Amino acid sequence: MERETAQESQNVTDYPNNNTIFSVWKFKDGAAVRPVFERLCGLVDNLNHSFTIRVADGRTSCVMGVGHDAWIKLGLPTPPPKELKNFEPISGSRHTAVATPGDLHFHLRAVNMAICFDMAACIAAILSPAADCLEEVHGFRYWDGRSILGFVDGTENPIGRERRFFAEVGDEDPVYKGGSYLFVQKYLHDMKSWEALTTEEQEKVFGRYKMSDIEMTDDVKPDNSHSALAGVEDENGNDLKIVRDNMPFGHPSRGEAGTYFISYANTFSTTRKMLERMFIGVPQGNYDRILDFSTAQTGTLFFVPTMNMLKQYSEESG
Ligand code: HEM
Repeated sequence: MERETAQESQNVTDYPNNNTIFSVWKFKDGAAVRPVFERLCGLVDNLNHSFTIRVADGRTSCVMGVGHDAWIKLGLPTPPPKELKNFEPISGSRHTAVATPGDLHFHLRAVNMAICFDMAACIAAILSPAADCLEEVHGFRYWDGRSILGFVDGTENPIGRERRFFAEVGDEDPVYKGGSYLFVQKYLHDMKSWEALTTEEQEKVFGRYKMSDIEMTDDVKPDNSHSALAGVEDENGNDLKIVRDNMPFGHPSRGEAGTYFISYANTFSTTRKMLERMFIGVPQGNYDRILDFSTAQTGTLFFVPTMNMLKQYSEESG
């Protein structure tokens, strides 16, 4: 299953950690962005190395993704990765997966928030003169890896050898082999309505048992549950997977609780298929019940170039 690649990927197959900072940036009109980008390429490499040495058990990773418009503006190779386009919204009968702007995305993970904070500060110091930060979300591990809705999040993710296969582009796009399609959405939850449900009703929303994290069998799992609609297969019945690393975030004093959805995949079409099933429904109108308690505030597609590409641009900055 594992593909040999001459390319060194960014750390898109990393496992969930205790702390995360996600940020989405948009270039300022007229800013000289290429030299800034070249410096960032060097910085990403530097941060990953530096924290691995400084905090050996910190499990640090810093991953940078580039949006479609930024790819063109930065003069990165053309044609761009095959499926890198601006995300187009998906509207169902009741809920919409909105599309929002974003030129660069940073995904910073570490055991310790101090590491995430320092990495974010280094990035901001270089990027702020040339770009505005549209979103900065500080995510945290909630108990035993649960979403803020109380269910363990990530169980059906590919692990081991499968992880790289599903997260990294393979031979289908040789120029970008080892890269990854990164898709993010910031969701806010209606916790009052969610908490008004009984545990049994919540379990039907996910198609899984809350305490044990065991999936319901097909004869009891509702066909509008998250598990029934988010799981997709190819035409031969093989599971199509993506690597997710969602994180809860929130401000209790403001009554705000959310999930930052993030996925890495070898193709964006798998992620899009999942979104269509969730938002439009199967059959149409039978949408994912999770959406009655979760509203997407953002939705942006990026591409994560290989470390080799980042190093090449970093060298250009001298
Ligand atoms: C409100 C945001 C979301 C929350 C809180 C959430 C939470 C969860 C939870 C708790 C599970 C069950 C355990 C597991 O991770 O396997 C799950 C499964 C899954 N989710 Fe989500 N999710 C969200 C949005 C999404 C979105 C937007 C997608 C796809 C674009 C997605 C794709 C999946 C997939 C593929 C599975 C595994 C399904 C299976 O094979 O059983 N999720 N999610």
